[in-house]
Amino acid sequence: MSEQKYLNLNNGLRMPIIGYGTWMASEEEINTAVNEALKVGYRHIDTAPVYLNEKAIGNVLTKWFSSGKIKRSDLFITTKLPPPGADRPDLVELTLRKSLADLQLDYVDLYLIHTPITVVVDEKGAFKHYEDGTIIVDPSTDLVAIWKEMEGLVAKGLTKSIGISNFTIKQIDRILQNCTIKPAVLQIEYHIYLQQPELIEFCKSANIAVTAYSPLGSKGVGTLNKRAGVERELPDLLEVPVVKEIAQNHSKSEAQVLLRWIVQKGISVIPKSTNPKRMYENKNIFDFKLRAEEMEQLNSLDANIRVVNFSFFPGVEKHPEFPF
Ligand code: A2P
Repeated sequence: MSEQKYLNLNNGLRMPIIGYGTWMASEEEINTAVNEALKVGYRHIDTAPVYLNEKAIGNVLTKWFSSGKIKRSDLFITTKLPPPGADRPDLVELTLRKSLADLQLDYVDLYLIHTPITVVVDEKGAFKHYEDGTIIVDPSTDLVAIWKEMEGLVAKGLTKSIGISNFTIKQIDRILQNCTIKPAVLQIEYHIYLQQPELIEFCKSANIAVTAYSPLGSKGVGTLNKRAGVERELPDLLEVPVVKEIAQNHSKSEAQVLLRWIVQKGISVIPKSTNPKRMYENKNIFDFKLRAEEMEQLNSLDANIRVVNFSFFPGVEKHPEFPF
């Protein structure tokens, strides 16, 4: 198994710096993919109820545990409190318990509030829409009240760490001013075209670890946009000339350069791939180092382009806590 590198969290625990991202991997794909991910050495897996793959992941994990090839304590599993209705304070514990049942686990290593916004759902859990097709948001979200419930989950041993995702500096600060347990991790979209230096600096000074999602630019978002009728040109990070040149310099792939650049900044990363060759490639980025001037060249590409801007959920921008 390949070497693990870790980030130390503010609660004394450690998180493998590279995780296996599972967003937009279907239930069918997940079976093979998570199996493959564990084989190539991923020990950190990132999921969420809204990815609809927790049950499939649970089945794979259970098989690995029963084979004796892996112990629960070898793994770092992250899941998230979903935005559709479930993040009402009284539903927080119930929602995590449902994830744990699906994952067939007694605890997760990290539980994140998936987004600072909430939406209205029907009895089957599907988003409710207005006649014009836009999503009905629930503007009453109380992030501090939800955080109090998140803290309770740690006390009950249902999760080792708690954190947030897609939050702004102001929202994180509100939590920090009103918490007993500080968020251990902020998970955000992060790549060469969306570097958010102020947010990163804020987390650094507050000792909150950052995890980068969509580090390769999440090409799959194009499909979600099309489904929602949103026309939007997305950048192809793997085709950026500077990235290609640096990759050639090191005889590495463009993806490896994009991931190495993030990890070298002390940021955790959760690339998604369902292709075993690419999974292996994405994890093996510790046998080369980007030079200071190469890091600078990549830093200078920041263009404030957000790929996952939730445009595939029309109407959510009306929520008072909409973060983007
Ligand atoms: P695939 O699953 O077929 O490998 P992100 O992690 O930014 O969301 O990006 C995921 C997208 O990038 C998926 O479309 C995935 O496709 C693709 N991808 C993942 N790893 C690599 C890689 N090493 N090289 C090229 N494309 C990759």
